[in-house]
Amino acid sequence: MSHNEKPITSLDKRLDDNSEDAWVSVIQKMDEAYADLVHYQVEIEEKNVELEENKLFFDSIESSMSDVLIVCDHNGCIQRINRALETLTGRSAESLVGINFTDLIDQRYLQKVDSFLTQVRVQSIRDCELELIGVEGAVPLSMNCSPRKNHRGRLVGMVLIGRPLGELQKAYIELNNTHAELKLAQERLVQSEKMASLGRLVAGVAHELNNPISFVYGNMHALQRYTERLSVYFDAINEGESRESLKLMRQQLRLDKVIRDLNSLVDGTMEGADRVKEIVNDLRQFSSTQESEKTLFDLTHVIRTALHWIIKESKQDVDVVAVIPDGLKAFGHSGQIHQVVVNLIQNAVDAMIDSKVKRLSLNASHIGDKIEFHVSDTGPGVSEENLSRLFDPFFTTKPVGQGTGLGLSISYGIVSEHEGKLEIRNQSSGGVCASLVLLAENPENV
Ligand SMILES: Nc1ncnc2c1ncn2[C@@H]1O[C@H](COP(=O)(O)OP(=O)(O)OP(=O)(O)O)[C@@H](O)[C@H]1O
Ligand SMILES: [Mg+2]
Repeated sequence: MSHNEKPITSLDKRLDDNSEDAWVSVIQKMDEAYADLVHYQVEIEEKNVELEENKLFFDSIESSMSDVLIVCDHNGCIQRINRALETLTGRSAESLVGINFTDLIDQRYLQKVDSFLTQVRVQSIRDCELELIGVEGAVPLSMNCSPRKNHRGRLVGMVLIGRPLGELQKAYIELNNTHAELKLAQERLVQSEKMASLGRLVAGVAHELNNPISFVYGNMHALQRYTERLSVYFDAINEGESRESLKLMRQQLRLDKVIRDLNSLVDGTMEGADRVKEIVNDLRQFSSTQESEKTLFDLTHVIRTALHWIIKESKQDVDVVAVIPDGLKAFGHSGQIHQVVVNLIQNAVDAMIDSKVKRLSLNASHIGDKIEFHVSDTGPGVSEENLSRLFDPFFTTKPVGQGTGLGLSISYGIVSEHEGKLEIRNQSSGGVCASLVLLAENPENV
């Protein structure tokens, strides 16, 4: 024992025992703390992995967004952006973070975006159209802007999401232009169909009028000649010619025949004038705008007139077999039905242009409360693939300028509006049979 070493007393021993206990408990505590630390470390590592995964998840979403994303602080300074914005501006995220988002906006829209920070305090901004300065020039965007708040609900910035309008707008403008062009083309075609119908009508009317007018002319010429002869005779009477010479004159001027003819000449002229009046009346009826109310009309007359005009106009030598009973009445607008009948007959005649046998058969009959009218031809018929397209507007197999392809489509509309039926089918014997069914009476009276 050295001189400064003290002898161990019982008190010392007790103290020693206590400090040993204390050490043990300290070591135990340290062990516990260490175990806790290890536990926390494991937990933190797990959380880190989770965080990392979440970060990757959000990064992948962000980078696959086609819309541009800009996150700003409350001064408008960019804090974060996505890949779409990098691509669009041609700038890296590092060069963009820290600048003010307004630096990316085209000058013309600065006034609009300047108020974003104030507006967004009150409510989100939706579909605000502006242009971003892109690597290849201005890029139109539809921008949505929402407030970004911290956990205490205080505004700390805003989130801007912009959808490029370029493609959409281009497609929209193209669509609009195409639509406008189509509308114009449609108007032109409808107009040309109207002109074609008008042309047919005028040609038909001209033919119709020619006949009675030349009749009236002929009669008037005869009357003119007769008047001259009669005045010669009356002058002779006035001059006191003898009975004998007057008798001779009467024979020479064939006045007895003149007097006999006078009545029939006047009657014929009247008849011609009546025919002209009738044609003009028909014409009035055919302009469908003059008709507002559907009525019972003379379908026989409509069919016969249509046939008459088309055959007169046609340059083909068509053999017509028509079984159309007198006085068939149908319910509707005679002018519109005339248009349908003309188109069916015209189509049949047109179809036979290259046929050896050109036979046009028309058949009309009253069956129950309906009138059926069939037009058959000896043309080539309609191919299987075209059958379903016949009523499509603008479907035509005729050369440009000869058919608008609107005839059957317009007819179908008219017939449907008349609660009727219009069908086109190939006949087993060849050629086409077009069938029109109309109401024979006003349905309200049935
Ligand atoms: N009787 C028929 N025989 C053969 N094909 C027909 C007959 N009727 C119609 N078609 C076919 O249907 C098409 C459409 O007929 P639609 O009457 O609608 O128009 P289009 O006659 O061609 O023209 P538009 O009537 O304006 O003069 C015709 O081009 C033709 O190909
Ligand atoms: Mg036609």
